[in-house]
Amino acid sequence: MGDKILGSDSCQIDFLQIAANFRSRLDLSLVAEVRDSPELARDPLGSGLGGLADEIEQAVEIPFEEMPGWPAPSVPGHSGRLILGSLRGLPVACLRGRLHMYEGLSERLVVEPALLLGRLGAPILLLTNASGGVNPAFGAGTLMVMRDHINLTGRNPLMGPNDEALGPRFPDMTEVWDRELRGRLHAAGRAEDVALAEGVYLGLTGPTYETPAEVRMLRSLGADAVGMSTVMEAMAANWAGLRVCGVSLVTNAAAGLSPTPLTHAEVVEAADQAGPDLARVIGRFAEGLREA
Ligand code: HPA
Repeated sequence: MGDKILGSDSCQIDFLQIAANFRSRLDLSLVAEVRDSPELARDPLGSGLGGLADEIEQAVEIPFEEMPGWPAPSVPGHSGRLILGSLRGLPVACLRGRLHMYEGLSERLVVEPALLLGRLGAPILLLTNASGGVNPAFGAGTLMVMRDHINLTGRNPLMGPNDEALGPRFPDMTEVWDRELRGRLHAAGRAEDVALAEGVYLGLTGPTYETPAEVRMLRSLGADAVGMSTVMEAMAANWAGLRVCGVSLVTNAAAGLSPTPLTHAEVVEAADQAGPDLARVIGRFAEGLREA
């Protein structure tokens, strides 16, 4: 059990083996660099946001398939990879692709990759995702710094036995989304001349998009954007003591707020268009952290 961060039977990822693989596969100087001070861990979602990872230099890439115990992709083909390298001089560990509950995976399993980044030494976790705009002012292409979240999945990754050595039984959630890092994201947006909104992300399990009645309900609950990821990772990373921040790319007006039905193709297209702007903001954010 000691090799699994949350230690549930449903968690099969073998972290000790993965760490051993890093050591045998990586150039020693890079191991030192990455292991001593990866200051930023990024976690981009598949839908068109993966291009962020291409900016990482001196990258060492480890396909998820090669990680012992990593679950098989629910869609055949590439399931994603862990990328270790340098972003504008800042050592980073980046997951290209993530696990989702809508794939049928448990909430404890979907947070393991984010916790792995923390275990590799990253003190900051930057989460990105695609979402639907619930706030009528947040149309397709809006980049929204996440100020807070609402977990409406009905699940919590910390249910079950708690390892006090890693985090408390009853974690405080007053400031999951770090205020200082949000300020840094906004500063990066200003420096790159990319408009950044700020708001509350509401997480559901998916895989269905919402009904118009649900979207009206979510708005009345205080949501600005809705998506199918992120809240589990944010809760677990906060528990484990990582500083969390992130940007949601609003790919579409949520159901009922636009005259046309939602399609996955539209989500991917919007992510592809706004992805480069987000990548510039994150690059500048990394630069700021390096200089800090
Ligand atoms: N709803 C939920 N998740 C999403 C959406 C949406 O409208 N768009 C992109 N991810």
